Amino acid sequence: MVMAKAINPLEGVDLERFYLNCQTREGAPVVIRTIEPDDKYEMLALYPTLSQRSLYMRFFRVIQQPTLDEIERYTRVDPKTHLALVALWGPEQRLGAAGRLIRATPDSDVAELSCLVIDELQHRGLGRLLNTKLVEAGRLWGITRVIALVHSENTPMLRLLKGLGYPTELVYDEGEFTVTLDTHNPPCRDNATHHATLTAMHQGIEP
Ligand SMILES: CC(C)(COP(=O)(O)OP(=O)(O)OC[C@H]1O[C@@H](n2cnc3c(N)ncnc32)[C@H](O)[C@@H]1OP(=O)(O)O)[C@@H](O)C(=O)NCCC(=O)NCCS
Repeated sequence: MVMAKAINPLEGVDLERFYLNCQTREGAPVVIRTIEPDDKYEMLALYPTLSQRSLYMRFFRVIQQPTLDEIERYTRVDPKTHLALVALWGPEQRLGAAGRLIRATPDSDVAELSCLVIDELQHRGLGRLLNTKLVEAGRLWGITRVIALVHSENTPMLRLLKGLGYPTELVYDEGEFTVTLDTHNPPCRDNATHHATLTAMHQGIEP
């Protein structure tokens, strides 16, 4: 029997000019597109609205208000090693979230994922939507393994990653999980609940 080949829904998309109209589960319109240098202005303005907790979950340290030049490092990226997307929320297309995959060299098939949804829009499905598209885009970019470092108290991020539908491994060490998604194959609903915790060095950890 010939198995139908699962097609990546983003097949054919130009990753450097990615632009996708989507909706959250609640039906809110969201545009997901490649980050642009001028996003730095809106990012700079949003910084003071971010909670210390969100910043800590993203950067694992306390972050002071960055300068425009510092923000530019996030918005002006090398497309060979960075795949960076933003999510624009609602009819006004406000910047609501940013996520990226970074690989050490242009030919590496392993990338580290990170993302942040602004506090005001958290827990409304935006993170899931952005990361779903980011990982799908990453597969087209040649990524077969996505790695994320996640604080052990970051339940939403752990749930989100485990629910993307890729075989997932979690390794716990000193307060953080290294989560690895095997993205060789397209996501599969069965994988959403099928993950393995390889090392739990802390009693009572329930990822
Ligand atoms: C983690 C983060 C990206 C999640 O994005 P989000 O838009 O808030 O999350 P979503 O609404 O898409 O929900 C994702 C999952 O978390 C769950 N979740 C959401 N809020 C939750 C909460 N307060 N407690 C527990 N689970 C929660 C959702 O139920 C969902 O799981 P499900 O689909 O299995 O139901 C976002 O909260 C964030 O940016 N946090 C700060 C920065 C950060 O942690 N970055 C990740 C670093 S790797």
